[in-house]
Amino acid sequence: MKKKLIIAIDGPAGSGKSSTAKAFAKYLNIPYIDTGAMYRALTLKVMILNIPFKNVKQIVSLFKKTKIDLKGRDPLKQKVFLDGKDVSKAIREPELTKNVFHVAQEALIRREMVKRQRQLGKTNGAVMEGRDIGTMVFPKADYKFYFEAKPEVRARRRQRELLATGKKVSMAEVMKDIQKRDKTDIERKEGALRPAKDAIRLDTSELTIPQTIDKMTALMKPSHVRAVNS
Ligand code: CDP
Ligand code: CDP
Repeated sequence: MKKKLIIAIDGPAGSGKSSTAKAFAKYLNIPYIDTGAMYRALTLKVMILNIPFKNVKQIVSLFKKTKIDLKGRDPLKQKVFLDGKDVSKAIREPELTKNVFHVAQEALIRREMVKRQRQLGKTNGAVMEGRDIGTMVFPKADYKFYFEAKPEVRARRRQRELLATGKKVSMAEVMKDIQKRDKTDIERKEGALRPAKDAIRLDTSELTIPQTIDKMTALMKPSHVRAVNS
């Protein structure tokens, strides 16, 4: 039987988690789970229904009735569905991004999220990326990576991404947004962004995605890489 590998990747915005995790999951032939997309999807629902972010209990009970699915066998083409509707594009809108912290800072909401994420990962293993995977969701993950990159590199990457989708933003704006998100991610009480004690830290500033994956596989047991990839 295949070993159900759990590979946790945490780190700040723009450190390269999503793109590397997708490519790595594809390489290993195991599911890719984007936990940020789940926080984003719930934020979208709260915004659509115009529920004040301070109504935490209402949001928790709404979440319990909400379907969030990550669909598609190919991690590079994964789509995010909210109650059966494809919201992959809507959840990346900058206006929404600014609001995710309201939902992500609430311990009661996080606990429900963590439950779901554990359930998702348990079934077939996963490359799971976010902020608290190695510390909260899978503290016993087979491998824990913590990505870092210089703030200006992260901002440049994010700016390029936004420009590619037709959104013109200055470096100053992106930097400000990233710094604000870093601060809220680091300072929240539960599920704060920090490396797990046993996480392997990788600075991706000067690395391409394939180079990052090479570094990760070099640190893994060859049998793990082969076992899941064959
Ligand atoms: O891709 P990017 O780094 O911009 O963000 P994301 O991974 O899509 O996550 C969006 C937001 O959700 C982050 O700013 C975090 O505040 C929050 N998040 C979280 O609190 N915990 C996670 N496990 C994943 C994301
Ligand atoms: O998920 P996270 O916010 O940590 O970062 P990402 O979405 O994976 O990466 C942000 C952007 O940087 C994407 O457009 C990636 O293609 C790019 N990137 C890069 O140029 N070099 C890397 N080593 C990693 C990501």
